[in-house]
Amino acid sequence: MTELRVLIDRDAIAKRVAEMAANITHDYAGQQVILVGVLKGSAIFLADLARQVKLDATFDFIGVSSYGNRPSPSQELKSGWDSTGEVKLTKDVDQSMKDKNVIVVEDILDTGLTLNYLLRVLRQRKPRTLRVAALLDKPSRRIKNVRTDYVGFHIPNEFVVGYGLDYAERYRNLKDVCILQLPPEST
Ligand code: IMP
Repeated sequence: MTELRVLIDRDAIAKRVAEMAANITHDYAGQQVILVGVLKGSAIFLADLARQVKLDATFDFIGVSSYGNRPSPSQELKSGWDSTGEVKLTKDVDQSMKDKNVIVVEDILDTGLTLNYLLRVLRQRKPRTLRVAALLDKPSRRIKNVRTDYVGFHIPNEFVVGYGLDYAERYRNLKDVCILQLPPEST
């Protein structure tokens, strides 16, 4: 049977998201920011973060996918995936980023391939500042070095779902971040 084990509960998430929002509010005091959510995993994090950021803020969304099929979570944890780093844009932002304070809002930083690609794309748009807010970070899996400015939690090398994160599009609506353990036959 597929098993879910709570790793970070809703109260801990809410507390940490409020702290991250306070840091962002402090760092950009008196300035405008664009929060760019990476679809779809960041949607819930962005919604909670944005409501606590006390700044003149707008939203945008960007979509990416990786070439090739992602293996099952357990396989992925063993051997990684897409080490070529080939990521493609499936949805671009709707507004100009030129001379703006852009904060990329991401659910989880894993190998770093996605954010590395996104930051390269967004840097070409000549923003005034470009920073990253990631709810979760799995540092042990890093392939590409990515500078993160606001990180919620460092987590161990486990496949997690909930609070926006999915496995095959499921579990995004869980209130807690949970470790997903699949039955042996699905690995
Ligand atoms: P990266 O390119 O390897 O850093 O992966 C980033 C993306 O992979 C995230 O935006 C997620 O969509 C997905 N991802 C990585 N680890 C997990 C996980 O543990 N659970 C769900 N999605 C994950």
